[in-house]
Amino acid sequence: MQTAITRLLGIEHPIVQGGMQWVGRAELVAAVSNAGALGVLTALTQPGPEALRAEIARVREMTDRPFGVNLTFLPTLKPVPYTEYRDAIIESGVKIVETAGNNPSEHMPAFKAAGVRIIHKCTTPRHARKAQEIGVDIVSIDGFECAGHVGENDIPGLILIPATVEQVTIPVIASGGFGDARGLVAALALGAEGINMGTRFMCTQESPVHHAIKEAITRSSETDTRLILRSLRNTSRVWKNALSGEVVSLEKVGAGIDQIGPLVAGAKGRGVYENGDVEGGIWTVGMIQGLIQDIPNCRDLVGRIMDQAHSLISGRLSSLVA
Ligand SMILES: Cc1cc2nc3c(=O)[nH]c(=O)nc-3n(C[C@H](O)[C@H](O)[C@H](O)COP(=O)(O)O)c2cc1C
Repeated sequence: MQTAITRLLGIEHPIVQGGMQWVGRAELVAAVSNAGALGVLTALTQPGPEALRAEIARVREMTDRPFGVNLTFLPTLKPVPYTEYRDAIIESGVKIVETAGNNPSEHMPAFKAAGVRIIHKCTTPRHARKAQEIGVDIVSIDGFECAGHVGENDIPGLILIPATVEQVTIPVIASGGFGDARGLVAALALGAEGINMGTRFMCTQESPVHHAIKEAITRSSETDTRLILRSLRNTSRVWKNALSGEVVSLEKVGAGIDQIGPLVAGAKGRGVYENGDVEGGIWTVGMIQGLIQDIPNCRDLVGRIMDQAHSLISGRLSSLVA
């Protein structure tokens, strides 16, 4: 299946693994790329630019296929050396970057000069238009269903994807709520050139999170997520546990970052992925968990999605118009 995305990124299948804090490490990235999709390392999971260089080198030991690096610009308590991370990406010879969180315009000239293709991930058609204007190559549009930062406009993919496709001329990747062939075929029908998946890839054999997290995902339904940090205009979709409930309760009574901050601290969330204690911290997951029932390896997952997409298109859909 060839689309603008497979051609632009030099990949076999129109599937991208979105950047995932604490999850997007070398083993998963290489497994996704070896399966013919695009693996994406998460820059800020590494403690610094030097560690990122080493992690990029580790991916190269495991795959000779294309892969990317995600650079997320979000409000943080400690300043992040973005320019140094960017230079580590460029100097390591990585040719695909996924940006997210904020406008990447400051870094565009350096990426462009190095021949890096930029996928910018955003949550509204307005931001997609802006991304096109500043020269990104591909826009990844993340619907309200998605794990993590959903934005503040709450537009589900069914509307968001075609609205974005209508408003930009660059290729669009559909993101948020995708996990199987039905989603891929629907995204193509809506005008996207491929799909981006986070939660689905987090629940694979090669994903570096604790097995108990993967099991929790397979047991959870589409109603088991919760939106936190809306009061701070930093809305995030996370797993529904007692702690995320406490955050929402605090927000309802007008608590500020000083009270909420300790509950949502990154280190606590990271601990969950390492020790598998699903109640021990806030952790990111999308509504698609309701459709995830197994923990396949990346090759089987990507292979199955592509096989079933072909059958769906040439079988059920074709028979409707035959
Ligand atoms: C555990 C986890 C961590 C994530 N961290 C990031 C991140 O650091 N930067 C980013 O741009 N997106 C992040 N995302 C969002 C994904 O890249 C992707 O956009 C999203 O998962 C798509 O929705 P889905 O989970 O329904 O597939 C994260 C997602 C998950 C599940």
